Amino acid sequence: MPMRPDDLELEDSTDRWLKWGAGLLFLLALAFPLYRFLEPGRRADAREQLTANLSAQGREIFVSSCAACHGINGEGVDAPALNSQQFLTATADEQVIGLISVGVPGSGMSAYSLDFGGPMTSEQIKAVSVYLRSLEEEAPDRPDWRLDGVADAHDDEEPTAAHDDEEPVDDGRDDDEDAEAVDDEPVFVAADAFIAQCARCHGIDLGGTNNGPGLGPTAHSLSEPDEHLVEAISLGRNDMPAWVDVFSEQEIAALVAYIRAVQRGES
Ligand code: HEC
Ligand code: HEC
Repeated sequence: MPMRPDDLELEDSTDRWLKWGAGLLFLLALAFPLYRFLEPGRRADAREQLTANLSAQGREIFVSSCAACHGINGEGVDAPALNSQQFLTATADEQVIGLISVGVPGSGMSAYSLDFGGPMTSEQIKAVSVYLRSLEEEAPDRPDWRLDGVADAHDDEEPTAAHDDEEPVDDGRDDDEDAEAVDDEPVFVAADAFIAQCARCHGIDLGGTNNGPGLGPTAHSLSEPDEHLVEAISLGRNDMPAWVDVFSEQEIAALVAYIRAVQRGES
């Protein structure tokens, strides 16, 4: 029996929908494996990015809070080298975090965790540990990592030395962080050095003079990474003299830390 025209039309449209449906299903079926194939890569990228951010944050903290004793690149000054294959291999992240949080009683290494009376949140300590871990791949072979720094510091310590009137290595801030600093080693106060050597061009308050730009809270240097400031100070730039022969690496690190403290309004 012949179909009526509107039945035919209905059948046509049903066919069309079925075809579309099948097409969509096919696409979906394709999409899932593709998604599962791409997604882990994307998640790994995100994780890598996060680690890189944390590590950069940790680097900044390290330069301003740790470099005076451990060296600007963790090479050790009068505290152990941390940029050492042996140290990093031997010490798990949790141990590094523990050492920073609690400190090493009876040494210059004070507790940094808020929980132990220090200045840092667990996030900040974690960031520093991520930064230290990032050094591992290229860390030099330094079986003497601990002896070097610490032994040096103790070798020239004399029982009768007039250490009492010496100031600890410091970024010039006048708060209780001073109390944590070592009482046995030099004697470089960044704020004093700045006034003696830098203020004639950059101003006592870092506000700048006719001879040099401001370095304070509104200055250009605020947006520059620490490495650039270290480089400008060490090697000089245009009318800015080089200081590499005047100050040691860690003294320059302390000067940068002092500039940062002023920029944060802490000094
Ligand atoms: C005032 C100097 C000083 C400062 C600042 C300092 N440290 Fe230390 N640190 C030391 C000394 C000294 C030791 C060695 C302690 C010991 O074992 O006798 C040490 C030990 C360590 C160790 C253990 C090393 C090892 O060989 O076991 C780690 C990790 C460490 N410091 C990380 C840090 C970090 C991170 C910071 C900044 C947040 C920091 N330190 C700031 C002086 C300092
Ligand atoms: C004779 C004058 C003079 C003295 C002394 C001087 N500076 Fe400078 N400094 C300058 C000038 C000029 C510049 C800008 C250089 C340029 O053209 O980029 C500068 C730039 C800098 C910068 C880079 C700022 C930026 O935005 O990149 C830093 C950091 C700095 N000085 C720190 C110091 C410190 C720390 C001292 C003391 C140890 C010091 N300066 C002593 C003149 C001086």
